[in-house]
Amino acid sequence: MRDYKRILVTAALPYANGPVHIGHLAGCYLPADIYVRYQRAQERDIKFVCGSDEHGVPITIRAMKEGITPQQVVDKYHALIKESFAQMNISFDIYSRTSNKIHHETASDFFKKLYNDGLFEEKETEQFYDEQAKTFLADRYIVGTCPVCGNPRAYGDQCENCGSSLSPEMLINPRSALSDAVPVKKKTKHWYFPLQDYENWLKEWILEGHKEWKNNVYGQCKSWLDNGLQPRAMTRDSNWGIKVPLPDAEGKVLYVWFDAPIGYISATKELTNDWADYWCKEDTKLVHFIGKDNIVFHCIIFPAMLKAHKNFVLPDNVPANEFLNIEGEKVSTSRNWAVWVNEYLQDFPGCEDVLRYVLCSNAPETKDNDFTWKDFQEKNNSELVSIFGNFVNRTLVMMHKLCAGKVPPLHTDVLDEDDKFIIDQIESAKKKVEDNIENYKFRDALFEVIDLSRKGNQYLQKKEPWKKVPSTQLPVTGDQKSIDNCLHLCLQLTANLAILINPFLPGTAKKMLHLMKVVDKMLEWKNAGKIKLLSVGYSLRAPELLFRKIENEEITAQVEKLKNGLVASSQLPETVNPEPATIQPPNKSTIQYDDFAKLDLKVGTILSAAKIEKADKLLKLEIDLGFEKRIIVSGIALHFKPEEIIGKQVAVVANLAPRKMRGIESNGMILMAEDSNGKLHFVNPDSLIENGSSIT
Ligand code: 2FM
Ligand code: ZN
Repeated sequence: MRDYKRILVTAALPYANGPVHIGHLAGCYLPADIYVRYQRAQERDIKFVCGSDEHGVPITIRAMKEGITPQQVVDKYHALIKESFAQMNISFDIYSRTSNKIHHETASDFFKKLYNDGLFEEKETEQFYDEQAKTFLADRYIVGTCPVCGNPRAYGDQCENCGSSLSPEMLINPRSALSDAVPVKKKTKHWYFPLQDYENWLKEWILEGHKEWKNNVYGQCKSWLDNGLQPRAMTRDSNWGIKVPLPDAEGKVLYVWFDAPIGYISATKELTNDWADYWCKEDTKLVHFIGKDNIVFHCIIFPAMLKAHKNFVLPDNVPANEFLNIEGEKVSTSRNWAVWVNEYLQDFPGCEDVLRYVLCSNAPETKDNDFTWKDFQEKNNSELVSIFGNFVNRTLVMMHKLCAGKVPPLHTDVLDEDDKFIIDQIESAKKKVEDNIENYKFRDALFEVIDLSRKGNQYLQKKEPWKKVPSTQLPVTGDQKSIDNCLHLCLQLTANLAILINPFLPGTAKKMLHLMKVVDKMLEWKNAGKIKLLSVGYSLRAPELLFRKIENEEITAQVEKLKNGLVASSQLPETVNPEPATIQPPNKSTIQYDDFAKLDLKVGTILSAAKIEKADKLLKLEIDLGFEKRIIVSGIALHFKPEEIIGKQVAVVANLAPRKMRGIESNGMILMAEDSNGKLHFVNPDSLIENGSSIT
C-alpha cells in the first residue's frame, strides 16, 4: 500500500430535485462517513466534501412537475437534503452546491483549459426537438413504451421498470414529456470530449493498476472498456446550467456530468486555501464514494477529464455500493416507493443511530440488498438492544450495585482463563475492525464490534458476579476479587466499544462517553485495544439505556405508509406538465364519440369533506349522487378548505374504477377547471339541479 500524507473523500453530489432516501444513505453517504470518522480518529489529515448537484435534466423535470422555477427547486431541496444529512450525523467538512459562483468559475475554467488545449471536437448532429415547446429534448424528456418490458412510461435513456438502458429511438410511440408532441430530429452543435483517446491509458490504469477495486466496480469498468469508448458531448441545449464559456454558444450549457464532479474541486476550494494540496499532490489519497449508477462517470469519464487537464490526482479507489431495495422492490422515486430520510427522522426521533446501524449491517456492498421494516425492528431489538445496549447497561448497573459506582481494581494475581480470553478479544478487535474499514468492508467491521459486545455478554454470563458475595473487608476476599476483575474488564471493554462503535454510531459513542464521564479525546483510535482506559476508583454516572425497543405498531405503520404512498403516486399524470400555471391549447390526440360515450358523468353534491392524515393534497369527500352516496378522494386540499365546499354541486365521473388512495377507496372523480394562475374551480350546473342528473 502506498504511503499517503492526506486523504480526500468525496461523496456523490445528490441531485437537488427531491429529498434523500435511505438507499442514498446506504449506497454512499453512510460508508463515506464511517470511513472519514475512522480516519479522523486515526488523526489522519482528511477532508470530506460533498454538496448538491443543482444542474441538469433532473432539476428541470422537477421544476416542471412542481410548477416552479429550477432555482426554486434547488433552493428548496438543497436546504432539505443538507438538513437531513446533518441530522443523520453525516460529518461533511463542507456541504456545498453547484450553483455557487466558485463552482461556475471552476467548471468554466476547466472547460476553457480543455478547449484551449484543442481537446474538444465541435460537431453538428441531429437531436430530438419538440416543435410545440420549441426546445431540444434531452433523452429523459422523451417518454414512450419500453421495447423490453412494455412499460408505457419508459424514459428515452432508461426504463425505470425493468432497468434497461434505452435510447429515444428504441421507444415505441415516443412523445415529448413536455407537450406530448411527437419529437422530430433537428440539427444542433456540441463540443465532444474524445474519450476514445484515453481508452488505452484507462485500460492500463484500471484493469492493470487497480485490480484491488471492488469486483462490481472493476467489472463495470472492464465492460465499458471492452466495448470501446466513444466521443461524448460535454455540452447540452438548455438554459439551466453553467453557460458554455465560448462566444458562439448561445443556449448551450455544460453537460451536468461534466460540471458535477468538478464540484468536488470547487467544494474543496471553498473549504480550504490549501485545496491544491488535496487535488494536485501525488501523496493525496482520493476516494470517491458513490452508488453503482455513477461508476462510469467516476472511474472513466472524470478521470479522463482530470488526465486531460493535467496536474490532478486520480482516485485511489471508488468503493461503489450496489442498490438497496425496499420490501423486495426496487426503489422508485416516481412511484414514491422509498423511505425518505426526512420522514424517518420525524417518525423515529432520536433513532438516527438505529438507521445507521441497520443500513450498515445490511449495506449492499457486493450485491443489491433488501431493506424491510421487519428486519429493521429485528436488528434494533435483537442486536442493538439485546446485545450491545444490554452489555453496556448490565455492566453499569452491576458496577453501581457491586462496586459502589466506582471502577474496581484488576487483581492480576487471580486472572483466570475467561479473563485472559476477554483481554485478548479486546486487544485483537481493534485490528480486525480497522483492517475491514481500510478495505471498505464496513459490514464486516461493524459485525466485529457487535461480536465483541456479544463476547462481553457471554463473559458476564459465565462469571456471574451477581452470585458472588461482595465484601468491603480487608484483605480482599476471593469473591470480591472475582467481582472486581469481571467488572473492571467489562468497563474497559465498554470504553473500547465506545471507540470502536464511534465511526458507525457516533451518537451512541457520545452517550457512552457521557455515562463514563470521559472526554472526546478517549475516542482516538490509538486508544482502542487498551485495557487501561478507565482509571481505578473513578466514579461513573448512573446507567441510562442506549437504545429503546421498537414496537410492532411502529413497523406496521411504516409498511402501511409505504403502500399507501405508492397508491397515491400512481394517480400522478403520466407526463410532466411543462407550465401548469398557463392555459395550453388542446394537445391530446382526437377521440371518437364512442370514447366519450364511455364516460358516465353525473351531477352530485358534496355532503362532507375532511382532510386526510399525512396527505397534504387530498380531501376525502362524501358525495350525494341521488341514487347513492359515494366516497371520493380528490387532490384539491391545497385549493379549498373542507368547510368551504360542503353543499357545492360538482361534476362527477361516476363510472371510474375504484382506486385506493392513502388507504381509502375512492369511487369516482370530480371534474375541476384550472385557470391560468393554476387555481382550481368547480365545474357545475348554472343553478341547483337534482343530484344524479346526467351530464351529456
Ligand atoms: O446520480 C446522482 O445523483 C448525481 N447527482 C451524482 C453526481 S456525483 C458527482 F459527480 F458530482
Ligand atoms: Zn422496461
